Amino acid sequence: MQSMILKGLIAFFFALILTLVQAKPIDVAKRDVWSPHILYPHQGTVWQVGNRHNVTWDTSNHPVNITNKIGLILLRFDGETTPLILANGFSVLDGKVEVTVPWVVNSNNYSIILFGDSGNDSENFSIEGSGVDF
Ligand SMILES: *[C@@H]1O[C@H](CO)[C@@H](O)[C@H](O)[C@H]1NC(C)=O
Ligand SMILES: *[C@@H]1O[C@H](CO)[C@@H](O)[C@H](O)[C@H]1NC(C)=O
Ligand SMILES: *[C@@H]1O[C@H](CO)[C@@H](O)[C@H](O)[C@H]1NC(C)=O
Ligand SMILES: *[C@@H]1O[C@H](CO)[C@@H](O)[C@H](O)[C@H]1NC(C)=O
Ligand SMILES: *[C@@H]1O[C@H](CO)[C@@H](O)[C@H](O)[C@H]1NC(C)=O
Repeated sequence: MQSMILKGLIAFFFALILTLVQAKPIDVAKRDVWSPHILYPHQGTVWQVGNRHNVTWDTSNHPVNITNKIGLILLRFDGETTPLILANGFSVLDGKVEVTVPWVVNSNNYSIILFGDSGNDSENFSIEGSGVDF
């Protein structure tokens, strides 16, 4: 009887571990239906660490039915998406969301990527004010 409970427990934990291992990260490739063009920030924009800004994007040509209108904005550096979240849980139909500039090294190689139904990145811009050059 005890060994059966033990076996059950072991099976349960195996299943739990498998579930955790299989939990997938955000799949960038599968979200490419609507790509709203980011208007701000753009080339020439300089953000200071700790300041707040409204990221804005063009909502004029969105499809009638959007499968996922919950937005996510991540910071990109040197052309690569970082795990740093600038905004999450807003509607991609809003056309803007306020973000706080994160504490990151000074660089002109930042951009942002906006996900909803899709993903599109901004032009490269600068973040300054940390006092640390990359
Ligand atoms: C991002 O938006 C621009 C401007 O609308 C468009 O030209 C570009 O193809 C889009 N990028 C992607 C990956 O959809
Ligand atoms: C962002 O836009 C909202 C609404 O237009 C405004 O109230 C807010 O002050 C703006 N934030 C910044 C940092 O400009
Ligand atoms: C959008 O969704 C509605 C409700 O599900 C449906 O009636 C309509 O045909 C859809 N329109 C398009 C263009 O897919
Ligand atoms: C931004 O910078 C990265 C790295 O230098 C580059 O790969 C990418 O093409 C640039 N993006 C734009 C929109 O210029
Ligand atoms: C930004 O990227 C360009 C092209 O890859 C590179 O030449 C430049 O040194 C980078 N700037 C910084 C501040 O990392």
